[in-house]
Amino acid sequence: MNFFEKLIMNSPIRKIFLRKVEAPILKDLSGSLEGMRVLEIGCARGHSTKLVLDFLKASSVVAIDLDPDSIEKAKKNLSKYSSDRVQFHVGDIANLQFPDESFDAVIDFAALHHVPDWQSGILEIKRILKPGGLFLFEEVTRQWLNWWFAKMFFVHPLENRFSYLDLIAELNLRGLEVKSNFVVRGKGDFIFGAAVKK
Ligand SMILES: C[S@@+](CC[C@H](N)C(=O)[O-])C[C@H]1O[C@@H](n2cnc3c(N)ncnc32)[C@H](O)[C@@H]1O
Repeated sequence: MNFFEKLIMNSPIRKIFLRKVEAPILKDLSGSLEGMRVLEIGCARGHSTKLVLDFLKASSVVAIDLDPDSIEKAKKNLSKYSSDRVQFHVGDIANLQFPDESFDAVIDFAALHHVPDWQSGILEIKRILKPGGLFLFEEVTRQWLNWWFAKMFFVHPLENRFSYLDLIAELNLRGLEVKSNFVVRGKGDFIFGAAVKK
């Protein structure tokens, strides 16, 4: 993320949006994550991780981000939780350092669109999910990334981006079944969904 995106992602406005809009939509799609061991990909400073614990009620969360500075800040921000409930690591979505079938759920708040080879990320998510495991996602599509404002102020990979239909098709193809369990917002700019590993 560039300076501007970091500023927005770490702002109180982002926190409010996560709590009031994004997490409730995912909860409507999936129900609570009670009893589940969850991997969060692209956790930044942990604002979303806190919601996975307190609002979605995951039993425990392992949260990763590519950016070491964000991971250090997330550790400080969530230092009141025990290491049984939450752990933070530097890690890459496209090369997850976890054994096969080791999580009940994976949650993605707007991180996969940062991965140049997002298809590899999907294969990795599928690999580390248990059979029947859940993949919950809130994603930003090619349509939004092509908006002049996004191009001017943010830095994203611009090749090999997905529309919401591309993302659903790839998930279904790789055995993360979405069916009709998704909602589209902003006329196709954003997608929220819940997939189940077959
Ligand atoms: C748009 S921010 C979203 C942050 C947070 N989930 C939220 O919703 O507020 C995307 C995050 O993904 C992280 N990220 C980008 N590429 C990644 C990768 N390959 N593996 C892990 N994290 C990555 C970035 O460092 C950034 O913190």
